Amino acid sequence: MENLISCNQFTKENLEEIFDLADKMKLNPEKYTETLKNKLIAVMFFEPSTRTRMSFEAAIQRLGGKMIVTENGKENSSAKKGETIEDTIRVLEGYADAIIMRHSRDDSSKAAAKVSKVPIINAGSGKAEHPTQSLLDIYTIREKRGNLDGVKVGILGDLKYGRTVHSLIEILSLYKNVEVYALSKKEFELQDEYIEFMNEHNIKFTKCTSFEDMPKDVDVLYHTRIQSERFEGDFGKEEYIINKEILDKFSKDTIVMHPLPRNEEISEDIDDDPRAKYFKQAENGMWVRMALLADILAK
Ligand code: NCD
Repeated sequence: MENLISCNQFTKENLEEIFDLADKMKLNPEKYTETLKNKLIAVMFFEPSTRTRMSFEAAIQRLGGKMIVTENGKENSSAKKGETIEDTIRVLEGYADAIIMRHSRDDSSKAAAKVSKVPIINAGSGKAEHPTQSLLDIYTIREKRGNLDGVKVGILGDLKYGRTVHSLIEILSLYKNVEVYALSKKEFELQDEYIEFMNEHNIKFTKCTSFEDMPKDVDVLYHTRIQSERFEGDFGKEEYIINKEILDKFSKDTIVMHPLPRNEEISEDIDDDPRAKYFKQAENGMWVRMALLADILAK
């Protein structure tokens, strides 16, 4: 893989390769401390981040690579002075062997990849895509369930502006007999383009109006935060909150996932429940990003 811009670049086979490598790295991290020796990676974040940026930085350092970082590119880079994404990339490619980038524009990674001579890794592009999040999401489901074929996923929260859900839908299309159940406030419903995409890719889609509408044996409840930074106005708080009472209506095998950060959508009273996987997901992010970096830069 040269660039990672979108989940549509993955095949089931190369996902398995990345996941197998992540498993090995997790078991035996000391074996991989020189994998990125002599590689220098630029980490450019124009939007806030805790997990994605810190796990990428941890991944680079655990693999023995070096990095140059802008953690607040919107304010501290020349973007503030009006420099285009393309010009910033034309400069960074002269310094680094790969560029990891998060930006508020939906087409930011594509625009960067068009001009870059070094691999671009999309760490979140506007409301559109977040492919490395989907990698760790699928890896986390795979850890629990083995195979992804036949998986039933409930998606909740901000399905309109949430890029993690959009990328999750895309990556799920690689698997057979997938079922997706959506539950959100009216203002944050999944847009038609994603529903059409699921129709075209044989994902069975059902819109729910309450937790009762969701099958009790869904494998995953995937909640997301209202992305208030991506729209004008105030549509209030999340209505569908996963707490102990709600979770106990579901199967003992239903896992709860969330890309984090959470606001009110998952209550802390389930944090110690073995079905709560959101912190596990965040940890998995580092191992999966290590495997991805090795796949792109050290094959
Ligand atoms: C998500 C993101 O930035 O899209 N967070 C993440 O990468 N783990 C979700 C969010 O910000 O709500």
